[in-house]
Amino acid sequence: MCGIVGYIGNKQAYPILINGLKRLEYRGYDSAGVAIYSDDLYIYKRKGKVQELIDYAKGKNIKGTIGIGHTRWATHGKPDNVNAHPHVSGNGRLTLIHNGIIENYALLKEALKKEGHVFESETDTEVLVHFIEEIQKRDNLKLEEAVRIALSKVVGAYAIVVMDKQDPDKLVAARKASPLVIGIGEDEFFVASDPTPIAEYTQKVVFLNDEEIAMVNRNGDLQIKTIEDEIQTPFIQEVDLKIEELEKGDYEHFMLKEIYEQPQTVADCMRGRINSKEGWIKVGGVDTTRDRIFNAKRFIIAACGTSWHAGLIGEYLFEELARISVEVEYASELRYRNPIINSDDVVIALSQSGETADTLAALELAKEKGALCYGIVNNVGSSIARLTHAGSYIHAGPEIGVASTKAFTGQVTLLSMMAIHLGYERGTIPRSYYLQLLEELENIPNKIESLLKSTKKQIEFIAGEIKDADNALYLGRGYNFPIALEGALKLKEISYIHAEGYPAAEMKHGPIALIDENMPVICIATNKSAYEKIVSNIQEVKARKGMVIAIVKEGDTVISKIADYTIEIPDTDEPLTPLLSVVPLQLLSYHIALMRGCNVDQPRNLAKSVTVE
Ligand code: F6R
Repeated sequence: MCGIVGYIGNKQAYPILINGLKRLEYRGYDSAGVAIYSDDLYIYKRKGKVQELIDYAKGKNIKGTIGIGHTRWATHGKPDNVNAHPHVSGNGRLTLIHNGIIENYALLKEALKKEGHVFESETDTEVLVHFIEEIQKRDNLKLEEAVRIALSKVVGAYAIVVMDKQDPDKLVAARKASPLVIGIGEDEFFVASDPTPIAEYTQKVVFLNDEEIAMVNRNGDLQIKTIEDEIQTPFIQEVDLKIEELEKGDYEHFMLKEIYEQPQTVADCMRGRINSKEGWIKVGGVDTTRDRIFNAKRFIIAACGTSWHAGLIGEYLFEELARISVEVEYASELRYRNPIINSDDVVIALSQSGETADTLAALELAKEKGALCYGIVNNVGSSIARLTHAGSYIHAGPEIGVASTKAFTGQVTLLSMMAIHLGYERGTIPRSYYLQLLEELENIPNKIESLLKSTKKQIEFIAGEIKDADNALYLGRGYNFPIALEGALKLKEISYIHAEGYPAAEMKHGPIALIDENMPVICIATNKSAYEKIVSNIQEVKARKGMVIAIVKEGDTVISKIADYTIEIPDTDEPLTPLLSVVPLQLLSYHIALMRGCNVDQPRNLAKSVTVE
């Protein structure tokens, strides 16, 4: 949440900062601002999107080769021009951008007020920059020393970049529990929340660790030290980010592009990991921690939002195929309830961003309790990927639309591979079924491709029929129950229609009271097992005049006679069904949101990477 970017070098900073902010806008879009130093300090900030800032800064002095920029997701203080970052110290010397929350800001603010500090905004960030100023002033310290001392007294999470107008050849950056990466170019440095604003200039990066402070100098020096003042050797890595992956290309929205990328991203997730003809499956992280994973008493899957839904599918997969007992936990609940976690448990953290604050905290707890921590993550080099003992990347490429789509299918693909692998090795599925599942998994990308083509027109039509609904119900059984939850989440987050997902049989225990002719009920009914049961559930909805939209497998003749609309998807083995059945629901939400005039890629109040708890 909140995107931060900084630049120091020989180029003009403003275009780099603005490009960077556009790339980071998925992290928050309540306000945007930049501070640039040339002959003096120039600060421009505006409520709203980066475009508002661009319009505002037009014709103003934007020259300078050092600067910092911020795009905000509001925590402390409403989204307006005053609360927008960068914030300035009382003496006008320091400017600071921040992602995170300073929890003891109120105490610090009171103490600073007593020293004569006056605050303009309601933010915790302004308190931090005044606090650094106070420390710097008191002992006439260099910026990095003042930052270090201030941060050692701060409680909370932060990624910050600070600029000192009396020393305009240096930026100081630091992180704790919010991501920060340094890009190393030719005689220039970049600082950003993630590598996306950096990738078009350099692929060489250093991911800062918690409680590290970096100093980047115009003379080409990069120094990293800990908050305890210990010098660290920078670990320079190459990221492999292509610019096309960061652009919408011919698509109207990132979300649509990402939905259509799924045949490719699912194939990328499997590349080099399975071969049905030769009958093998290799998941790197599982192989390196083989004994602990194979002998685990229990898997605990911790995640949030869409990733939690993928985790629920993981539960069905591991329990059915590998006969391993699984608990799926909201990371935010797990971390605060003194859970029983033992050293023979495996805790799997699922996260697209790899930065979700609650998932990270749950992992830290699991690590303290001695469990093996396994990460299933999309963003390479992210905090979760670095904290876990082992793990696997899903290789979906940057996901920029705020609503998660291709990361979800990537996570489910990875979980399916793990479950099939473990099931076979533990002897809980026979070789014939193992080979069948491998072959079927390899067929999934083509099946997604074909369903994207065959269902397009029909989904657009159905979207038009239900776009004015106030509520919607999603029902599914077995593997399709988490898909019902995911379908409902997709609809509510981008179209603002209230939607609920339920196990189909649970409908009778309450939600059925809501059904009337105005209630679209989306039934995910591709199941082979319990097929008759879901047919009965659909009958029950129809008997109460609900409008049924059914997702069925090709050639289904029973449900198509009862439902108002049916969307056919290719058949597959039941454990792999979610990889197909989720896709029409993603598209349905997309088209409904579009028809309702909603901002599909940047829905209100949301941010892609939830780095505050
Ligand atoms: C919904 C969505 C969120 C995320 C959740 C966890 O479309 O994207 O619910 O799934 O915030 O994020 P990650 O996976 O980055 O930990």
